[in-house]
Amino acid sequence: MNILVTGGAGYIGSHTVLELVERGHRVVVLDNLSKGHRAAVGGIEFVHGDTGDARLLSETFKKYNIEAVVHFAASSLVGESVQQPAAYYQNNVVKGLALLDAMVSSRVLKLVFSSTAAVYGEPIEVPIMEDHPTLPTNPYGATKLAFEAAMLWYSGAYGLRYASLRYFNAAGADLAGKIGEDHHPETHLIPLVLKAAMGSVASLAIFGTDYPTPDGTCVRDYIHVSDLAVAHALALDALSAGRDRAVYNLGNGNGYSVLEVIRTAEEVIGKPINVKYGPRRPGDPAVLVAGSGRIKKELGWRPRFADLKSIIETAWLWHSSHPAGFEK
Ligand code: UD1
Repeated sequence: MNILVTGGAGYIGSHTVLELVERGHRVVVLDNLSKGHRAAVGGIEFVHGDTGDARLLSETFKKYNIEAVVHFAASSLVGESVQQPAAYYQNNVVKGLALLDAMVSSRVLKLVFSSTAAVYGEPIEVPIMEDHPTLPTNPYGATKLAFEAAMLWYSGAYGLRYASLRYFNAAGADLAGKIGEDHHPETHLIPLVLKAAMGSVASLAIFGTDYPTPDGTCVRDYIHVSDLAVAHALALDALSAGRDRAVYNLGNGNGYSVLEVIRTAEEVIGKPINVKYGPRRPGDPAVLVAGSGRIKKELGWRPRFADLKSIIETAWLWHSSHPAGFEK
């Protein structure tokens, strides 16, 4: 299939591009490189531009005979979204609608969307199933949910077929060691723990020790980025096979606390990590664990990296060999 991947030069996007190419698809990446890295998709057909550019989209659909879109391009920092909701609505909703409209006009009607556990907000029940109420507590989650709603209405009126994948905490790196996580600024736990181990940040701040969890630190469900990549490929296959709409959670169903992540990283690396105990980060729910039974049952998805240690091992492979990210 000829597939356009928006935001394909980003972390989850580039791993998905790799998976799609390995499966024999022809992939074209559209990325404005505001966050992504050109080096993450070396050798892949690349269009430098924006999802808000309707003309570029229709030209690209035509030029490459695009049959489906995987849409990653978005702003994704929770804290930043609270400070700058206008930018999040602009980037994630307004530009997202431009993409949907261009798809409908060009009759490109298959879409896999990069959504998030942040659509649920503070869980009232864990594991979180797809029918859990969606009450986001920040603009990031709200804008992703708004786009999900648009897809639903566009599917009824214009024949759009879509799968929305709600990721829990993506982590790890491709085993070949050529691509991995490289955010500027880095805000995610696992890369920060590894940077603290390498000494490129002085210490790791633990955000809160008084949560109602077994050790007082937040519990998250970490999922390997390559397992996420496979889920996108399976979702595309399902849309090609006639599936019209679907929403899937993606996690491993196991919760690990911040302290467990640090201990596991120490075990993988073989040396202690310098930590500092600090206050809670506003907006962090205590526990987020996915119920991913639906995608397992309907699409046969199975995680290859179901335990935290193997996820951290692959992340360490990338970080230890690329201390400056894609620059080295
Ligand atoms: C959040 C979003 C998720 C989004 C992701 C991408 C929610 C509920 N989740 O995940 O949807 O896709 O960001 O940006 O909004 N921590 C520390 N010290 C640090 C960094 C993190 O203790 O220096 C803790 C956090 O408090 C949290 C855990 O580590 O409990 C994981 O944090 P992080 O990697 O930032 O991801 P989330 O906030 O869970």
